Amino acid sequence: MDKLLISHTGYEVKEATIVRTSRLTSQDKLFEIALPEGEILDFEPGQFVEVSLRGVGEAPISICSSPTHRNSFELCVRAVGRLTRALHRLEAGDNIGIRGPFGVGFPITKLIGHDLLMVAGGIGIAPLRSLINYVMDNRRDFGKVQVLFGCKNPQNMLFKDEITTWQQRLDVNFSCTVDEADPEWMGNVGVITTLIPNVDIDPENTFAVIVGPPVMYRFVIAELLKKGVPEEHIVLSLERHMKCGLGKCGHCQIHDIYCCQDGPVFFYSRIKNLKGAI
Ligand SMILES: Cc1cc2nc3c(=O)[nH]c(=O)nc-3n(C[C@H](O)[C@H](O)[C@H](O)COP(=O)(O)OP(=O)(O)OC[C@H]3O[C@@H](n4cnc5c(N)ncnc54)[C@H](O)[C@@H]3O)c2cc1C
Ligand code: FES
Repeated sequence: MDKLLISHTGYEVKEATIVRTSRLTSQDKLFEIALPEGEILDFEPGQFVEVSLRGVGEAPISICSSPTHRNSFELCVRAVGRLTRALHRLEAGDNIGIRGPFGVGFPITKLIGHDLLMVAGGIGIAPLRSLINYVMDNRRDFGKVQVLFGCKNPQNMLFKDEITTWQQRLDVNFSCTVDEADPEWMGNVGVITTLIPNVDIDPENTFAVIVGPPVMYRFVIAELLKKGVPEEHIVLSLERHMKCGLGKCGHCQIHDIYCCQDGPVFFYSRIKNLKGAI
């Protein structure tokens, strides 16, 4: 029998179970989550859920697994505050609240048939991992696939084992850089924009997808435009303070858009003139 699909649950909190945890870095932990009674979370790469703990709080967290793996989903949580630190104290078997999925994900139907250049900075690799693994699982639907990933230092690098697997694949070009190397690091050193001039792309046929800290966007977009990527082929995910996830509270509002409902993923051409968006 088909499992029940849940899509937009609005205010309803589902009591989900942590199936497995693994530590990715000193600050980041990966959680595999299952919904009650075998329900399946019906989501797209780039969407997020609101994660809550009773008496502690609630925060938006991107789904970092691909929807092609349906029985559970994964969240990568960086311990920065009240809720995320409390989440880090949990282990397999503990329960958390889940609302969602929310927001607009990456425009997969538009990306299909094109070359992809995915650019991730820091924890931006978490939402992008959902898209990367979706693309890997549907590899024939896409042209040339390239991923650029930059982080502060090798100790901060998320998904190290998976990155090694991606780097070994012949049908994906994966390049990494760190801002500061350690003695064991054999790869590139420098900010992520230093990788872009050497990337070989057919700009008209390429969609660029960028996820990272706000400071990265302006510089990455400038390099992509220099390469000739059209503005309407640049896709990015914006992070804003969010509360309700439902377009009600206004916490995530930028002029006439609500990041939680209209985004977090936007075409650059849509938001480039919105003051304060990037
Ligand atoms: C769409 C979206 C997706 C996200 N995905 C992820 C994800 O995949 N993984 C992840 O780890 N995070 C993600 N985040 C970020 C996460 O939601 C926030 O970091 C969230 O605030 C964490 O909640 P918290 O209670 O742990 O921390 P908070 O207590 O909210 O603190 C978070 C940060 O804000 C600072 N802060 C808190 N209160 C104030 C204040 N009053 N004034 C100034 N600074 C303050 C804290 O010092 C800390 O650095 C995402 C956010 C969005 C919008
Ligand atoms: S988070 Fe409440 S309106 Fe977007």
